[in-house]
Amino acid sequence: MKGLILSGGAGTRLRPITHTSAKQLVPVANKPILFYGLEAMAEAGIGEVGIIIGETGDEIRGAAGDGSDFGLRITYIEQEAPLGLAHAVLIARDFLAADPFVMYLGDNILKEGIVDLVARFESENPNSQILLAKVAEPERFGVAELDGDRIVRLVEKPPEPPSDLALVGVYMFDETIHEAVRAIEPSPRGELEITDAIQWLIDDGRDVRPHLISGWWKDTGRLEDLLEANRLILETVTPAVEGSIDDKSDVVGRVTVQDGAEIIDSVIRGPAIIGRNSKVVRSFIGPFTSIYEDCEVIDSEVEHSVILESCRIRSISRIEDSLLGKEVIVEQDPQKPAALRLMLGDHSRLSLP
Ligand code: DAU
Repeated sequence: MKGLILSGGAGTRLRPITHTSAKQLVPVANKPILFYGLEAMAEAGIGEVGIIIGETGDEIRGAAGDGSDFGLRITYIEQEAPLGLAHAVLIARDFLAADPFVMYLGDNILKEGIVDLVARFESENPNSQILLAKVAEPERFGVAELDGDRIVRLVEKPPEPPSDLALVGVYMFDETIHEAVRAIEPSPRGELEITDAIQWLIDDGRDVRPHLISGWWKDTGRLEDLLEANRLILETVTPAVEGSIDDKSDVVGRVTVQDGAEIIDSVIRGPAIIGRNSKVVRSFIGPFTSIYEDCEVIDSEVEHSVILESCRIRSISRIEDSLLGKEVIVEQDPQKPAALRLMLGDHSRLSLP
């Protein structure tokens, strides 16, 4: 089997971070989201992976390289614009050839991985296997209507969902999907929807099997979901201390201190991760916080947040439920008059107590 990971698209719900960076590269527990998908592929014994890239293609190439770090061979497939998930399959035709494949949305994380799912697909050999998960807000997803084990209908982001079963962003197909993606028309949002292509398979009498997943799954497209994914993953990380913690510091719970990180006169309450060469001084880092590489947190408190590389947080009490992009500076300034002095990118959010 081959793999196809979708890592193009615009990422409007994570602006301003995605004005400059790929949403699939935002780190969750200090690992880019995309890497969870690549690791899942390798773990399932898939060697050849195609990655769909768009505007942020250079950054994705830089991060995933030729795939050898993951034990994969990666082929990059350029998509001229985010014209839909089925469009991605259309342009991957040459790469995929007649092989069955797993399609994995690059902003999704599936806790249970795909080993069992690939094994089931290979043994039952249907035309397609789709994964479903019960969700609280089905209108945000593709939604399935079932009759027992049979799929009656799939609809993309219906205002009035027929069930609470969302389509998870991991799909398995054989070569019949190529006929389906050629047959469908763009949806009202102007995209070739994979949901419509799967519906086409069903209408054409093909064997499409639903599978309700048992573990958690997250589409990390929104801030709340990204923070939740970070929370869920941090709870599974095996703690390791490679950096230094001084005598005056108190580190409790599931805490990882990566290589070269320094914890000085601080309290870190896990689950949390402090990235390579970051410095935490006279500060409190609370549960569910991921601080990426080369950051400085001084005289501050941070909890339930994801902080990207090279940020500087000084004399701030306190930051919660936040996502900071790269090289962000948040600090108190003694200069008079006391005022907020801001330089925020387009679509930034600032909530003051
Ligand atoms: O996360 C699951 C949901 O993913 C499903 O329930 C929906 O049925 C499915 O349509 C999809 O919905 P989203 O609106 O969340 O998809 P999004 O536009 O966020 O794209 C998913 C990933 O695919 C993301 O990593 C960007 C990438 N992408 C997207 C499009 C539209 C591409 O590479 N090319 C594209 O043309």
